[in-house]
Amino acid sequence: MEIWDVKDFSKLKANKHIQKAAEILRSGGLVAFPTETVYGLGANAMDSAAVHRIFKAKGRPQDNPLIAHVADVSGLELLCRDIPPAAYTLCELYWPGPLTLVLRSSGKVAPEVSAGLDTIAVRSPNHPVANALISACDIPIAAPSANISGSPSPTEARHVHADLDGKIDAILDGGSCKVGLESTVLDLVSDPPRILRPGGITLEQIKKVCSDAVYDEAVFSEVSPNTMVRSPGMKYRHYAPQADMIILRGNSDDAARFIRSRAALNPNIAVLCYQEELPLYKGLNAVSYGPEVQYDILSQNLYSALRALDEAEPDIIFARCPEGNDAAAAIENRLKRASAHHIIDLSDISDIGGGNT
Ligand code: TXA
Ligand code: MG
Repeated sequence: MEIWDVKDFSKLKANKHIQKAAEILRSGGLVAFPTETVYGLGANAMDSAAVHRIFKAKGRPQDNPLIAHVADVSGLELLCRDIPPAAYTLCELYWPGPLTLVLRSSGKVAPEVSAGLDTIAVRSPNHPVANALISACDIPIAAPSANISGSPSPTEARHVHADLDGKIDAILDGGSCKVGLESTVLDLVSDPPRILRPGGITLEQIKKVCSDAVYDEAVFSEVSPNTMVRSPGMKYRHYAPQADMIILRGNSDDAARFIRSRAALNPNIAVLCYQEELPLYKGLNAVSYGPEVQYDILSQNLYSALRALDEAEPDIIFARCPEGNDAAAAIENRLKRASAHHIIDLSDISDIGGGNT
């Protein structure tokens, strides 16, 4: 498998690696490429066999549809029908960017992209490499995140390499992804419009166009395996590290006391915390993902922090997680799913543990 460095964004149009990657995609191969959110694993969206290869390489359940990546709104018009005016306004405001729109499919892409649904998810990414690749191959690119199904999405080329080496044709290495969490998925077929997955574009931003937009109920709470979900991806324990994860709700000192008392019983634990909390965890395997209220930094670092924590193969990861804040909705959603909604509310516990913090 080839890894091509394309971190110099100045002359991408003429870049031979972009040209080669486009050639691979046109001839049915798989190329991982950076977007502003996470790395995507691309295939020609018009080619059933190529799209099938994505599912195989990732070990992705066949009923979980993919996002088609397009250059601009003309791509949306090609792939969708019955496009409401709100979709155009959203594209004007937030495209290219971390917003995926689910609309009725025009049936132009391979049916595997939509996994048999009559809708299709479309987005125009905001990254020079992704954009150069899309225009070089001049076809919509079907691309899920470029990780093994169930592991944290890749935000660096080395994460893609760790998961998919030998299973795909090439990786375009464009450095770290700025947003760090996957795009917001907005279902515009449902009434009212629903956020199926929170991401870089917030509910508040969407409400500027669709004032009645809501979060789908599966975004922050558990759905039972038998429930009909609107986004098939919601059923699966996504974004999950290898270890079990438990979210600790409460203040920093209580969390540290609780974790230290647990570490006394089982030293093989790890902590995902805020930068300010690191001094509380001296001597433990603690990784910070950023300052407590800097949600853009927390988003950017979350997945690489989860991968780093997993390297020590802890039995449990205790995680600190922002809750109830629109700007942190994507972080809250990913951590709740990574923990399979396992939350300990420290205010419910009378004796948190005596150890010094
Ligand atoms: O930021 C992103 O969106 C990244 C980059 C590579 O663009 N892509 C990504 O793709 O996260 P993936 O496949 O990992 O997640 C796509 C999500 C899944 O939860 C899937 O169920 C949902 O979008 N989805 C795709 N098509 C859908 C549809 N027609 N209806 C409802 N949900 C859909
Ligand atoms: Mg994914």
